[in-house]
Amino acid sequence: MPNRLEEHWKTISDPRYYIIKCCCGLPFIIFFIWLGLNVQLYKPRFYIQNIYVPALSRLDNSEDGRSNNLIFFDLELENSMTIKGVHYDNVNLTFFYGPNTGHPIGNYTVPGFYQGEGKKTARRDVVVTYGVPWDDAMKAVSNRSKVVFRLGLATKVKFKYFFLYSKKKAVAVGANVEVNDYGRKVQHEAIKLTSSGASRTKGTSYLNTMGLSVALTSLLVTSML
Ligand SMILES: *[C@@H]1O[C@H](CO)[C@@H](O)[C@H](O)[C@H]1NC(C)=O
Ligand SMILES: *[C@@H]1O[C@H](CO)[C@@H](O)[C@H](O)[C@H]1NC(C)=O
Ligand SMILES: *[C@@H]1O[C@H](CO)[C@@H](O)[C@H](O)[C@H]1NC(C)=O
Repeated sequence: MPNRLEEHWKTISDPRYYIIKCCCGLPFIIFFIWLGLNVQLYKPRFYIQNIYVPALSRLDNSEDGRSNNLIFFDLELENSMTIKGVHYDNVNLTFFYGPNTGHPIGNYTVPGFYQGEGKKTARRDVVVTYGVPWDDAMKAVSNRSKVVFRLGLATKVKFKYFFLYSKKKAVAVGANVEVNDYGRKVQHEAIKLTSSGASRTKGTSYLNTMGLSVALTSLLVTSML
């Protein structure tokens, strides 16, 4: 009867054994790391494509234009993730006068919706503001200064992986927008809404904890093959 141990030794001293094991294991490791990154790193992204404040436009001198309290906005919502859909709860937009959140001037709610993998969508609408110090703003743009508005966005999202939903996760981001004497956004590029503070560091620490544990798990799984 052949010695089991000898047999085993023969197998594991054969280099082909390791090559096969490695070839089987590597795709798993890569798959799990990719999955871990997708699960942890990518979040929906929000961009201000455009803002228009007709009351500040020097081209619109009509009584109507000057006295209206409207802000037109064009917001882009993007799910750049390749393996998961996003379900958004109601998306609460709050507009502020000035670069901080001390002076709210308007609210808007984007009704909740579902967005598939890799999809983009825009919401363009108008919000009726209250309490904007128009005299100040007008004075500022008339001497070619910029007026800053801030847009804050708060919602909850849950991710759909194949047919499973994740737990809900709060999203709170915002961005400042400079508006000129045409009532237009100064910056040509879309402005990304970010969580104030060190959002990048947060993403990295997610990567460190989650990515690492996913990688370790996958190593464990592959070593058991
Ligand atoms: C906008 O939302 C804020 C905070 O939720 C609230 O205090 C304020 O009354 C709202 N204003 C309007 C006009 O809905
Ligand atoms: C322009 O207006 C802003 C805001 O009212 C003021 O702070 C600034 O000093 C003014 N600049 C000039 C050159 O008048
Ligand atoms: C959005 O606004 C509604 C109504 O004020 C509130 O109930 C909800 O909690 C808000 N959502 C977030 C994520 O702040």
